[in-house]
Amino acid sequence: MNAPAPPAETLRAALAGLLDGLPPRQAAQAVERLIASYRGATPTDAPILRDRADVAAYAAYRMPATFEAVRSALEAFAEAVPGWVPGGHLDLGGGTGAAAWAVSATWGGERPVTVLDWAEPALALGREIAAADPALRDVRWQRSRIGAALTLESTDLVTVSYVLNELTAPDRIALVDAAAAAAQAVVIVEPGTPDGYARVIEARDRLVTAGFHVAAPCPHSDTCPIAPGTDWCHFSARVSRSSLHRQVKGGSLAYEDEKFSYVSAARFPVAPAPSRIVRRPQIRKGQVLLDLCETEPSLRRTTVTKRHGDLYKAARDADWGDPWPPSDPQVRRA
Ligand SMILES: C[S@@+](CC[C@H](N)C(=O)[O-])C[C@H]1O[C@@H](n2cnc3c(N)ncnc32)[C@H](O)[C@@H]1O
Repeated sequence: MNAPAPPAETLRAALAGLLDGLPPRQAAQAVERLIASYRGATPTDAPILRDRADVAAYAAYRMPATFEAVRSALEAFAEAVPGWVPGGHLDLGGGTGAAAWAVSATWGGERPVTVLDWAEPALALGREIAAADPALRDVRWQRSRIGAALTLESTDLVTVSYVLNELTAPDRIALVDAAAAAAQAVVIVEPGTPDGYARVIEARDRLVTAGFHVAAPCPHSDTCPIAPGTDWCHFSARVSRSSLHRQVKGGSLAYEDEKFSYVSAARFPVAPAPSRIVRRPQIRKGQVLLDLCETEPSLRRTTVTKRHGDLYKAARDADWGDPWPPSDPQVRRA
């Protein structure tokens, strides 16, 4: 018997099937409508994802990217909490369930999962897609509004991905406080824009005040060393482009890079990276330039040259977002 496909492939196949039978022009129009709604005034007082066409467009067009961004954030979190596996997961503003898929891809096995959202069509489609993964068949799809009245049952892990942008400032605060009260660990992902980063920092501050320890991307729980308004901390996740993407965006690139900002934090002790690469490494002849965020809150550029031996090899393989130096003891000694 063949081994089951990993969640990422199962998700890709399930999403590819979503638009089957829909004329390509109609699918592209649904995506364009959706992009226009997201460009409009958010927060809104009613869901943007109103019907199946909206939601199918969202799932086919955006879910692969939000899935990869959350998976990247969860991988960095998992490295900082070795051995920890969530016993339960609550995804707030979960829509069609991208974060539930990402949690399943990060920590195999089954756990109670609730996806909470106010858009019934998103939850319905999420349930339909999740039928493709046995680990997600028992997910509870809960229709609720995020706001001051929100109360949450205790769980190990709360994820909030690409949601803060859609909330008013008081609702953002209510959401982060409710997540902090309910969870052992919280992972928040936003678009990798200056505004997305600012919302992540606001949430990070509230989590730290509530007693959480930052696990990733920051090597510490002190104030972020970026002076407000001068820069923004963000990362990049590679996403395979579907034929729908190529149709809407034109061009023939097989992939695109989703930029995202994130924070992950836990109530229990964490082992953050000693420092993290916060820009794409620049590879020059015989040297690699790395921009690092370090334990003593500061940003520093370091140059790793051939003279550094194994460390140089590691720097050539290092990626934006990776911990530095790598945890391989051979390389650390170099
Ligand atoms: C951009 S989508 C992100 C969906 C999913 N988390 C992801 O990463 O793909 C934002 C989601 O937040 C939900 N949302 C926005 N405001 C909400 C509110 N006040 N209460 C509940 N859900 C809300 C929307 O319905 C939508 O599903």
